[in-house]
Amino acid sequence: MTLSTLRHTAKTMVEPGQGILAMDESTPTVGKRLKAVGVDNTEDNRVAYRTILLGTPGLGDYISGAILYDETIRQSTTDGEPFPELMQRQGIMPGIKVDTGAKDLALSGGEKVTEGLDGLRDRLAEYVGFGAKFCKWRAVIAIDEEKPSRACLEANAHALARYAALCQEAGLVPIVEPEVLINGAHTIETSFDVTVETQRQVFEQLYRQGVHFEGMILKPSMVISGTDCPQRAGVEQVAEQTLRCLQQTVPAVVPGIAFLSGGQSDEEATQHLNTMNQMARELSLPWQLTFSYARALQNQVLETWRGDAAKAEQASQALLHRAKLNALASRGEYTP
Ligand code: 13P
Repeated sequence: MTLSTLRHTAKTMVEPGQGILAMDESTPTVGKRLKAVGVDNTEDNRVAYRTILLGTPGLGDYISGAILYDETIRQSTTDGEPFPELMQRQGIMPGIKVDTGAKDLALSGGEKVTEGLDGLRDRLAEYVGFGAKFCKWRAVIAIDEEKPSRACLEANAHALARYAALCQEAGLVPIVEPEVLINGAHTIETSFDVTVETQRQVFEQLYRQGVHFEGMILKPSMVISGTDCPQRAGVEQVAEQTLRCLQQTVPAVVPGIAFLSGGQSDEEATQHLNTMNQMARELSLPWQLTFSYARALQNQVLETWRGDAAKAEQASQALLHRAKLNALASRGEYTP
């Protein structure tokens, strides 16, 4: 592993005007998305759908990298071209989700801990062989009157840090994703407090495991009111509080922050990112702020395609459109 390679990859992932396409849904999760638009969760349908996404002409103008699920990095498009080769032609770096999912944390009343460390070193070596340049691991933190517990925050932060260290050892940039869930009736103030605490724990553990901050990307949730909160905060407040949180927790040498969309509407996700980048100009923040959205990039693609091959081109255009708007937002140049 050379630090300069990690640094270069991380910088390229978050270059101004570029973001990351998350398309690493596990087979059950992509199945839910496909079912919602009347498509069966077969291997052929998954390949067809992911061919539309990655085959979108010009996607590399706005997307620096895409996060794949294990099966996709091994598969070929509907035309028989291995997905990693198509991505290389498109100028999109292959990334890979390497966690094996959020499982029940023992003795903790339904909180989750993300698993996948066993055998990870060997799996990473295999992914390097497939051309992967970066990885993703997602921890989920739920909020209610009793959650999150300290046990949940610590277990997840520790796992994220061990994952990140293994990635860097293998020459892969870790995307470190601690997602504070939007589900619940909590206020934006509670979201702020929990997100600050979560990120503090994460950076403490990353530091203890010797992870190089300049060779990683943080993928956080925004500081936002819960979906069932009676008075949800507006765009300016979400942007302001998210930046305030990041300033308190993220070391300046981290090259970039690539947000998840976490159940926000497509338009909200774009506006929040845009407003943050506009505010960032005044604050001279040290990191690039961009997107690593799954749902907020894919919703319209699925709606348009609905399994109909005749709609594939139109579905691609829907992706390109959303990617372009988010790319503008990553420069603070989007106008609603
Ligand atoms: P959403 O943008 O749909 O939240 O997904 C991002 C992601 O990669 C979740 O792990």
